[in-house]
Amino acid sequence: MDKHYMAEPYRIKMVEMIKQTTKRERVKLLEDAGYNPFSLRSEDVYIDLLTDSGTGAMSQEQWAALMRGDEAYAGSKSFYRLDRVVKHITQYKYFIPTHQGRGAEQIVLPQLVDKKGMFFISNMHFDTTRAHVELAGARAIDCVIDACFETGTYHPFKGNFDIDRLEKIIIEKGKENIAGVILTVTNNSAGGQPVSMENLHAASAVAKKYDIPVIIDGARYAENAYFVKQREAGYEKKSILEISQELFALADIFLMSAKKDGLSNIGGIIAIKDNTELFEKCRTYVVPMEGFPTYGGLSGRDMDALAVGLQEALEEDYLRHRLDQVRYLGDRLRDAGVPIQYPVGGHAVFVDCKAFAPHIPFDQFPAQSVVNELYLEAGIRAVEIGSFLLGRDPDTKENLKSPLELMRLTIPRRTYTYAHMDVVADAVIAVYQRRNQLKGVAFDYEPPVLRHFTARLKPVK
Ligand code: F0G
Repeated sequence: MDKHYMAEPYRIKMVEMIKQTTKRERVKLLEDAGYNPFSLRSEDVYIDLLTDSGTGAMSQEQWAALMRGDEAYAGSKSFYRLDRVVKHITQYKYFIPTHQGRGAEQIVLPQLVDKKGMFFISNMHFDTTRAHVELAGARAIDCVIDACFETGTYHPFKGNFDIDRLEKIIIEKGKENIAGVILTVTNNSAGGQPVSMENLHAASAVAKKYDIPVIIDGARYAENAYFVKQREAGYEKKSILEISQELFALADIFLMSAKKDGLSNIGGIIAIKDNTELFEKCRTYVVPMEGFPTYGGLSGRDMDALAVGLQEALEEDYLRHRLDQVRYLGDRLRDAGVPIQYPVGGHAVFVDCKAFAPHIPFDQFPAQSVVNELYLEAGIRAVEIGSFLLGRDPDTKENLKSPLELMRLTIPRRTYTYAHMDVVADAVIAVYQRRNQLKGVAFDYEPPVLRHFTARLKPVK
């Protein structure tokens, strides 16, 4: 195991104070939040690992770029600066900004669904992608390799498509009923797991064989490219930009939540390789949904910060430290015997709570119980990705059972230090040592949709 971890390739010029609360205070705060850390105030959180989305630190170059923001409603200079960067990176012909990733999804996905009973197939759909597939009247099918669910077993590319199954699904549903094949890089939902370039080529080739559009959901495409460089033969000497461009060449459409590998606090991207008709439809549709096509819901300064962030995210020192920091936390937990999705992915450590607290049944949400205990232990906010998030079957109203019960410790970019990772590791290990005492949770209030955001829970006696 490589125990070298790169130090921060930056020094800190501005700080934001964070405060520790006492255990007594946290007991009360968590109770008031209905045992759901989404309802905590951020000031009551010491280390916030809820998400890596829009929570990172901008560089001095990005802050400087903010000052150049051109707030013209139409045709701003900021738009043209971002346009140039996106087209340079993707080598695509068309670009439309959106306010964030789901903004891009709501514009593009409905354009690809032209009749009832259509499907999108992805290695794994992110929640909002799935929601927009369904809002567009289609259905989402996940098609990831089985190794993805074996958390303790090493596989270098757990985000890979099951290529045989992909082709089988296309034949079974009929190629005319497949609206698109979505390459989600990295695969967030199962651990920020990378997809190999070989697998991306194969998935794209299957889609092309049946004339199906290929879409990249590339929120974390730069992290994926760095994993390819580290782990896939033949890519050691290629730059991150070269690897990324090889990926973009395999697809027709690129959708991105720029709040991740755009190193920005807000922003989304639609890029289209060369389909002029699709571009024109999206450009028309973006006006009522997001805004005029040269701002798409962003201010000029947001676009300028993003133009710089997109380029910084391709720097190897940045990426190496980023992935090392996540790996460091993962290694500390594994060394203490804590079950995690292994190897760790790009943006988070996913703790396997089915193995952590096997005595808690799935419908008492074992991972939520661990999330709550971690907050009580040290004021750290993590997030459940399991049966609590999954919700109920729309027909039978039964709780759905997630194949994995995960606690995601999501690391914001350029924000916390290795010392913070030690605080997190020590706290998770302390909770692990008393895991037998953990109790499940039950609903006090359950909203009808997307329940995990606003539900109120109580510990099961
Ligand atoms: N696609 C992926 C793979 C994502 O991880 C996300 C967001 C989106 C699309 C939607 O983008 O939030 O900008 O609208 N993931 C965040 C997370 C929210 O916490 O993992 P968005």
